[in-house]
Amino acid sequence: MSQLSAEIPDTARIAAPIGVFDSGMGGLSVVAELHRQLPRESILYYADTAHVPYGSRSDAEIRELTADAVAWLFQAGCKAVVVACNTASAFSLTSLRQHYGARLPIIGLVPALKPAVAATQSGVVAVLATAGTLRGDLFNTVIRQIAEPAGVHVLTAFSAALVPFVEQNQHHSIECEQELHRVLQPLCAAGADQLVLGCTHYPFLSPAIGRAIGTQLTLIDSGAAVARQTVRVLIDHGLLRPIHTQPVFFQYAVTGDPEHAAPIVAQLVALPFRRVMVY
Ligand code: DGL
Repeated sequence: MSQLSAEIPDTARIAAPIGVFDSGMGGLSVVAELHRQLPRESILYYADTAHVPYGSRSDAEIRELTADAVAWLFQAGCKAVVVACNTASAFSLTSLRQHYGARLPIIGLVPALKPAVAATQSGVVAVLATAGTLRGDLFNTVIRQIAEPAGVHVLTAFSAALVPFVEQNQHHSIECEQELHRVLQPLCAAGADQLVLGCTHYPFLSPAIGRAIGTQLTLIDSGAAVARQTVRVLIDHGLLRPIHTQPVFFQYAVTGDPEHAAPIVAQLVALPFRRVMVY
């Protein structure tokens, strides 16, 4: 394991992977953006598939499961961790940063309201997220700081059925499309023109959203912004891998059934990683 000293980043620490965590497969949408913007970085992905979905769990349960996941990635030698889950971020970012301090930079997620507020023509934006994310302080602070001063109305919606469609590889099914139509049509009828995908599983639903409601809503997700933030954090901590380093790898660990996960990971991580390994 690399030496985790924040003051003097050593070669081993710089070469260490970025840890990425989600309750399940959703964070793989963030992995795609990380790999695009940081092609020289290795990634160790932790999917808590034994406990997904987090969205309907209590605040305390989400905090505890997230702390376990980040501790695992830290022990595995990751140089930084991206909490690629809006629900986990909503309840854990402050306590995780307090706990790890400079030993482990932590990057989190909040639904991307800012670009939606900037782009809306109708003055109404919609956010689709889990129940946990919608009740969390992080998201409600963003509404107060960004949408309210701009006079933009924020509509929120959630469906507990959506994350399981992705986890079961059913996100191209007619049932998924019907559920999306049920949830999103009222938002269109209420005048929304932007849809913030406030859960990292939802970018995988984009084709089904298009079939369900056409192009009435512009879809906005946080993946690219989180990857940009990760680049900044790695630079600030002197942890960016230099050019001409060894080939990068993508490894993943799941807490649930690895055989169920393998084909889904393979399908969702359609990226030219040199090596894909199960941890
Ligand atoms: N990908 C998680 C998020 O961004 C899914 C939450 C869940 O497990 O319900 O919120």
